[in-house]
Amino acid sequence: MAGDMNILVIGSGAREHAIVWKLLQNPRVKDVFVAPGNAGTAVIARNLPIQPSNLAELRAAARAHQVELTVVGPEGALAAGVVDEFEAVHLPVFGPTRGAARIESSKAFAKDLMQRYGIPCANSATFTDYAAAKEYLYRVGAPVVIKADGLAAGKGVTVCTEYEQAERALEAAMVRGEFGAAGRTVVIEEFLEGAEVSLLAFTDGRTVVPMAPACDYKRVHDGDEGPNTGGMGCVAPPPFFSQALIDETRRTVLEPTVAALAAEGSPFKGVLYAGLMLTSRGIKVLEFNCRFGDPETQVVLPLLRTDLLDIVLACTHGRLETARVEWEPETCVGVVMAAGGYPDRFDTGLPIRGLDLMDDGVRVFHAGTAARAKPEVTGLRRFYTPQAPEPSLEEVLSGNIQTAGGRVLTVVATGPDIEAARDKVYRNVARIHFENAHYRRDIGVLRAPPASEAREGPALVSGGQTP
Ligand code: AMP
Ligand code: GLY
Repeated sequence: MAGDMNILVIGSGAREHAIVWKLLQNPRVKDVFVAPGNAGTAVIARNLPIQPSNLAELRAAARAHQVELTVVGPEGALAAGVVDEFEAVHLPVFGPTRGAARIESSKAFAKDLMQRYGIPCANSATFTDYAAAKEYLYRVGAPVVIKADGLAAGKGVTVCTEYEQAERALEAAMVRGEFGAAGRTVVIEEFLEGAEVSLLAFTDGRTVVPMAPACDYKRVHDGDEGPNTGGMGCVAPPPFFSQALIDETRRTVLEPTVAALAAEGSPFKGVLYAGLMLTSRGIKVLEFNCRFGDPETQVVLPLLRTDLLDIVLACTHGRLETARVEWEPETCVGVVMAAGGYPDRFDTGLPIRGLDLMDDGVRVFHAGTAARAKPEVTGLRRFYTPQAPEPSLEEVLSGNIQTAGGRVLTVVATGPDIEAARDKVYRNVARIHFENAHYRRDIGVLRAPPASEAREGPALVSGGQTP
């Protein structure tokens, strides 16, 4: 029997495709609407042509479609106050308010909070005055990390091995205004070394329940070469990040941060994402995000054994302690297939083939994809009933799906260990084709860390670390 609950998911990435896919597993769900979605979400849900920045239209759509729950993907909408807008008219929504989202949208806010509440992080200082910033930089020297305060689409952080590089980064942000208002305030931070891990947690503002940890591969090329990207792949859980470390992070980072935000009058509900570094001096926070990660979500949700909708509703209604949150004892590896040229210039409109050739249990979460014809034309309407069995994409849209962005797909597979999951995912990635597609071949590959990094075993080659 079909359910009676309508849900709205805001966003258009593979993260949102994964969220929609997981929510649909609850039989209470009737329709899921996605604003604006992609060709993948069009198959299992109903796309609405509304951008995440258009808060008024999102609110109107939620009303018009009798939406009982909205889940917000991108940070931009949260920082713009989508949750405040929805709550003002009593529309239930999963995500932090604008005030609480400052934990991501202002690095100066996050650092100040962490320093005042004793949450472990890199030493740093915050500046709005260029001369003062330069003087401080001169005193601390390199290596050092320069961070624009605000949201800068992942480009606001410069890890500087050389002093001159740091001077240029400071000037770019504070003098040339390369990040606009986001870079007028700058955080100058101590350079840390170690393995990076993302630990995301559900929270209702009081209770905190960590998800499976994940490692994001941020650089574009194998061996962590080339520029940073939105994420080229992910593995969950990395074997070196033990249950003891998860518990320690909950106790020393996640719970104190949620309590601090509540104490400051900005209670946080939704997903709190801690970007961590496992240093020789213990766990340190590199950054917080106020939402599900991308590509972390694509590898974490397939491991969630219990029901996502129940957890999200429990958070939204302030009773997370009653929800069951359990994880499969497996490993999930996700490989991002990107357009040739990404993260710089790339072409779009290239046909994608091979999506019908996936092995059982392999999932393809879409990001920059579009159907060439409208769903009405391709007969997609028939699949708008969420409870219908998931059709293969190619079955429905044979030859009709094309690239429409830089990161095109995340292909994910689970297995009893990293090796099994890796073998499976790469076997399937090799069957998907579009012109100039590129992807990393080393997602999930382990390397031995320098002695100073090791705390619990081998570290992953995970993105964003300075070699
Ligand atoms: P963030 O957006 O703050 O996570 O920074 C992006 C990337 O820069 C992180 O994933 C790290 O690889 C790197 N990074 C950030 N802060 C530091 C730091 N204090 N020391 C070394 N690397 C850092
Ligand atoms: N995986 C990095 C992010 O979601 O911001």
